[in-house]
Amino acid sequence: MGAAGAIREDRLWQRHADMAKLGGTPKGGVNRQALSAEDAAARNLLGSWARARGFAVSTDAIGNLFVRREGSDPKALPVLSGSHMDSQPTGGRFDGMYGVLAAFEALEALEDAGVKTRRPVVAVAWTNEEGSRFQPGAMGSAVFAGHYDLDEMLQAKDWKGAVLKDALAETLKAAPALMLDGRPGFPLDGYVEAHIEQGPRLENERKTIGVVTAIQGSRRYIVTTHGEEAHAGTTPRAARKDAFAAALRIAQAMYEATTDKDDTLRFTIGRVDVAPGSPNTVPGRTVFTIDMRHPEDAVLEAHEKKLKEIVAAKAAPCSAGIERVTAVPPTIFDPMVVDLVRAKTNELTLSNMDMPSGAGHDAMHIAHLCPTGMIFVPCERGISHNEIENATPQDLAAGARVLVEVLVELANR
Ligand code: GLV
Ligand code: MN
Ligand code: MN
Repeated sequence: MGAAGAIREDRLWQRHADMAKLGGTPKGGVNRQALSAEDAAARNLLGSWARARGFAVSTDAIGNLFVRREGSDPKALPVLSGSHMDSQPTGGRFDGMYGVLAAFEALEALEDAGVKTRRPVVAVAWTNEEGSRFQPGAMGSAVFAGHYDLDEMLQAKDWKGAVLKDALAETLKAAPALMLDGRPGFPLDGYVEAHIEQGPRLENERKTIGVVTAIQGSRRYIVTTHGEEAHAGTTPRAARKDAFAAALRIAQAMYEATTDKDDTLRFTIGRVDVAPGSPNTVPGRTVFTIDMRHPEDAVLEAHEKKLKEIVAAKAAPCSAGIERVTAVPPTIFDPMVVDLVRAKTNELTLSNMDMPSGAGHDAMHIAHLCPTGMIFVPCERGISHNEIENATPQDLAAGARVLVEVLVELANR
């Protein structure tokens, strides 16, 4: 196979190593949060590799970065592939970055093998997929798809109060690329995202490729409890309005209400801020985040109702509120793309299995625009959102081989 044969495992691995230096942590992971100086450095590095190969580099008003290899038909809509370069605060080297580098490796392989495609093939790095610094996550792809409003997202604030618009301006200044006119979004003919699995199934089943059929639905919330600051040494229990104690009661009830016997519903409290954050002041305010996921939207809806009831029932003597930040319904990928991924994987004689995704990905927004699919490769012990996240050069290259063959097929439709 021409294009797959031109995928270079050593080059793809080295590019991961080069990117891992940007925001690299002592434990071997990365802290490259969205629109940080490290994110800008990653954009610059990708841009420099792209320009060296003669590809066009552009960005849009939410900072999505595009690397374009032209096709032979100037009127044909492009095929896109990519993922994200931002990371969790204690993230790994592969979550997101693999999808961007696999797409870029595909462009290089097409170039090296002299493969012409009818449609342009574009590698993309979506802005702020993680949603750990600025909420909501998968922001760049959601704005691109028209699911989130650009102006509203530009006003998003991080936990320290920095405004996204300012962070984006700094990032784009530090990593210049041709600015696309108008609002984010342009017509597409197909989208394929490669990603590490972030779970243990492929490794346990000894399969190299996951043919991704769907992504489970997810919702995020912020719960705030309001109490009254008071002296920790003098204020009797009965007289306190302890915002943290209220948050604890609410959280405990929520854990219980979201425990299902087959362990399908995912419920996580990942961040708790207690104010004023002083050892000897009774907390006056507590804010915590909820991330809840399930393959069926109706189950999420039913549990959202329970969460609201718990907030109302457990807050007293404090007051409390729950705000939904995002609700992304389950995604079912286009059977044409799913079948194509499976067929190319089989042609390359790689072991594979069909599987849904437990994690969210930019593909869930782009799937509303054009035929979309995903390719998973194994990661060590399924560990992700962790600095020790790991994958093998062989598996990463195998996924890139499948990707480039799928892209050639889609780009010649
Ligand atoms: C993406 O990182 C997710 O939270 O699923
Ligand atoms: Mn990811
Ligand atoms: Mn992630």
